[in-house]
Amino acid sequence: MTTAQDKPRILTGDTPTGRLHLGHWVGSLENRLNLQDDYDCYFILANMHAYTTRADKPDEIRSDTIEIVRDYLAAGIDPQRSTIFLQTEVPAIAELTWFFAMLLGYGRLMRNPTIKTEIEVKGLGDQYSFGFLMYAVGQIADILAFRPKYVPVGVDQVPHIEMTREIARRFNQVYCDVDPNKVSDEEQTQAGGVFPIPEALVGRIARLVGTDGKNKMSKSLNNAIFLSDTPKVVKKKVNKIFTGRQNPTDPGNPDNALFEYVTAFIHDEARVAELRDRYARGDNIGDGEIKAEVGDAINELLDPMRERRAQYEGNDDIIIDILRDGTRRANELAEDTLASAKQAMRLDYFPRTLTCG
Ligand code: TRP
Repeated sequence: MTTAQDKPRILTGDTPTGRLHLGHWVGSLENRLNLQDDYDCYFILANMHAYTTRADKPDEIRSDTIEIVRDYLAAGIDPQRSTIFLQTEVPAIAELTWFFAMLLGYGRLMRNPTIKTEIEVKGLGDQYSFGFLMYAVGQIADILAFRPKYVPVGVDQVPHIEMTREIARRFNQVYCDVDPNKVSDEEQTQAGGVFPIPEALVGRIARLVGTDGKNKMSKSLNNAIFLSDTPKVVKKKVNKIFTGRQNPTDPGNPDNALFEYVTAFIHDEARVAELRDRYARGDNIGDGEIKAEVGDAINELLDPMRERRAQYEGNDDIIIDILRDGTRRANELAEDTLASAKQAMRLDYFPRTLTCG
């Protein structure tokens, strides 16, 4: 029998900013579920990162954190097989963040396109906290503390994974004498490096358009369908998807927002091809008819999640127990990584053991 320890690992997670939606599902969540059997999975609740832009909202961050765990469990993440844990209770992450910050140039960080976009989209101007910039270094530590093979993420996170790969190589070069010009990414640990070079795994739909038919699906833009929405709300939101098309006999563009949903949620390929063809020809097919079919497909996906969610609704104690157990397992691995990193950095004065509730 293979044990969890024999399997390659994946690490990914979410900043608790609200409930998860279909954009999260197609971008990353679905991938995570498919990987659950073959990989040892670690899912981080990046609650520290939530404080980098909402330091004054501790109550909101706490309830968002609990809600995301509920979303994970509803989506089918199995806490027996996968480790769900709290970033703030894994001190090795905070320590590694410092070490990595020393290997990362300030200019390099500021050229990270995800950071640039966030500053713009969130309207932070030059008012962002020092901690806000630190989150990107922290994310490198989130990942490398678990020495994963893959990091399943949405496409917007790829620049962070790029930076993570650079820092892993740099650490191995500076502290473990691994020459990146001579040693391939795959062979870094065999050559004595502490860190493997992890790879991003992007979901089948990189960017799902919101129900406004224009912007990326996002809670703050009010265009999201949440995993926790009722069947009626799902139908209502799908009906709002804007295409601008008037009549069932108008030739339509089968690459519009509505068809992004058709492709994402209707899995019968022949049916998708037929809908596209009839839509393009204006073969007496109304947007309403297609929306009804999309709504049904989404509800079919969400129904089992609704059933699972019911077991956890209104019960924060179960959620806290799952987090306590996951965080204990996460600390075991992260402490082990940290010890190896410190040894390489000649910080191994004496062994340290951490006790965790
Ligand atoms: N920054 C990610 C997001 O906003 C969340 C995150 C934090 C993450 N740490 C991570 C994702 C480590 C993958 C790996 O979605």
